[in-house]
Amino acid sequence: MMFGRSRFLAKSVSRNISSVNTRRLASTKSLKETIQEIVPAKQEQLKKLKAEHGQTVVGQVTVENIIGGMRGIKAMLWDSSVLDPMEGIRFHGMSIPEAQKALPPAPGGKEMTAEGMFWLLLTGQVPTAEQTQQLSLELAERAELPKFVEELIDSLPNTLHPMTQLGMGVAALNHDSAFQSAYERGIKKTEYWTYAYEDCMNLVAKLPTIAARIYRNIYQPKKSIAAIDKSKDLVGNYVNQLGFGHNENFTEYLRLYIALHADHEGGNASAHTAHLVGSTLADPFISYAAGLYSLAGPLHGLANQEVLRWQISMLSEVGNNFSKDDIKKYLWATLNKGQVVPGYGHGVLRNPDPRFVALQAFCKGHEDLMASPMVKLVAETAEVAPDVLKEHGKTKNPFPNVDAASGCVLYHYGLTQFKYYTVIFGISRALGAATQLVWARALGLPIERPKSFSIDALEKLAKN
Ligand SMILES: CC(C)(COP(=O)(O)OP(=O)(O)OC[C@H]1O[C@@H](n2cnc3c(N)ncnc32)[C@H](O)[C@@H]1OP(=O)(O)O)[C@@H](O)C(=O)NCCC(=O)NCCS
Repeated sequence: MMFGRSRFLAKSVSRNISSVNTRRLASTKSLKETIQEIVPAKQEQLKKLKAEHGQTVVGQVTVENIIGGMRGIKAMLWDSSVLDPMEGIRFHGMSIPEAQKALPPAPGGKEMTAEGMFWLLLTGQVPTAEQTQQLSLELAERAELPKFVEELIDSLPNTLHPMTQLGMGVAALNHDSAFQSAYERGIKKTEYWTYAYEDCMNLVAKLPTIAARIYRNIYQPKKSIAAIDKSKDLVGNYVNQLGFGHNENFTEYLRLYIALHADHEGGNASAHTAHLVGSTLADPFISYAAGLYSLAGPLHGLANQEVLRWQISMLSEVGNNFSKDDIKKYLWATLNKGQVVPGYGHGVLRNPDPRFVALQAFCKGHEDLMASPMVKLVAETAEVAPDVLKEHGKTKNPFPNVDAASGCVLYHYGLTQFKYYTVIFGISRALGAATQLVWARALGLPIERPKSFSIDALEKLAKN
């Protein structure tokens, strides 16, 4: 069951957040203490919902839904964010502009941070600046990798796709899984979430360290990696380890990108995969490794790599002094070859993606970006492509999604190796997946097991 989306609900949740928020501002509670405080009420709420409304019908399932990749079927519980087809994502009821306004920036920065977003997703509450800084310190203290994981990553050929390497590194972290060893020891169900939480914190903390090591091994093999700096936030350390620590604009962009991309409700392939695998009580490391491999498909996370490849090839064809007509011709050439236009369309959204809008607003606020032909080409493609896609007449959503915009800024700032882009998406999406893994254990959600049909059985059912 997925909670129904309505403006009324969004507003009322929003109001709850701001009232909780004023109460919370004076709090010095840690993230774990804050979650601990909320767990009993959430458990009770779910128990009551099941007891009182367990038989309420949420929607119907058509043959087309079943053939069409379960698109639109309301069938999952996912509390941290809900996606409205028209207005886009809300994190516990908060829209992107609201979250940008409410969540504290890193010291010296303006953009929301991964820590602030993680706190919001896990608790539904807005943390204070002190709480996010405390969380940054905690993550920095957990960031170091076991020696054998470093050796494993260093042993991989630099021709192996960065996403394959990332999944391997993350899966190997399960060697030290608190959840797995507690489960083997024998623990009560009510304790599951606290061990899942420990693993999720380690996952979120170590993921950028693995990702930076992969980047340096493949693209700058002779340079050493900076040590974790405990005064920096998660993204500050990541950018530093990538070798771009001198560029504050780049760091700010990645803070925004990673916060924005953290969660997109439950049904998208990576989030759903991590949740499905987690529902078997596999530990959070292998659950998220599975999610990462789901992200590595070109219709999902790999699209940001494909967008850049496509836009670079468009730029080389149309040159720096392109016109809208040049873009239009290139779009038609892509479609006429039977290819999809990467960065456009969406399984749920039916409007321009507000994450795309937020990234474009970041570009507009930075003169250096506005002078970049690649950034300009991406912005102008977004003006031309919707009409072309409408005329083409296939996609249900002719507007840009977040991936249309995410890569051009990385490219401008010198991170030009676009095969690496999905890795950054993977760091971001861990925040939402980890949130669900903690809450699924806290709420005692069962193993997932939808019913499938054969074609013959469906045909028989339909005819009867
Ligand atoms: C995101 C995506 C996978 C959603 O798929 P979906 O829910 O099946 O999309 P739709 O229902 O609109 O698809 C209907 C048709 O339009 C086509 N279509 C969808 N997006 C298209 C695009 N960007 N360019 C060209 N054709 C597209 C589909 O391939 C499908 O064609 P078919 O009937 O011949 O199979 C799809 O829009 C896509 O491939 N986009 C490009 C890749 C991308 O940007 N992915 C990142 C998503 S965040």
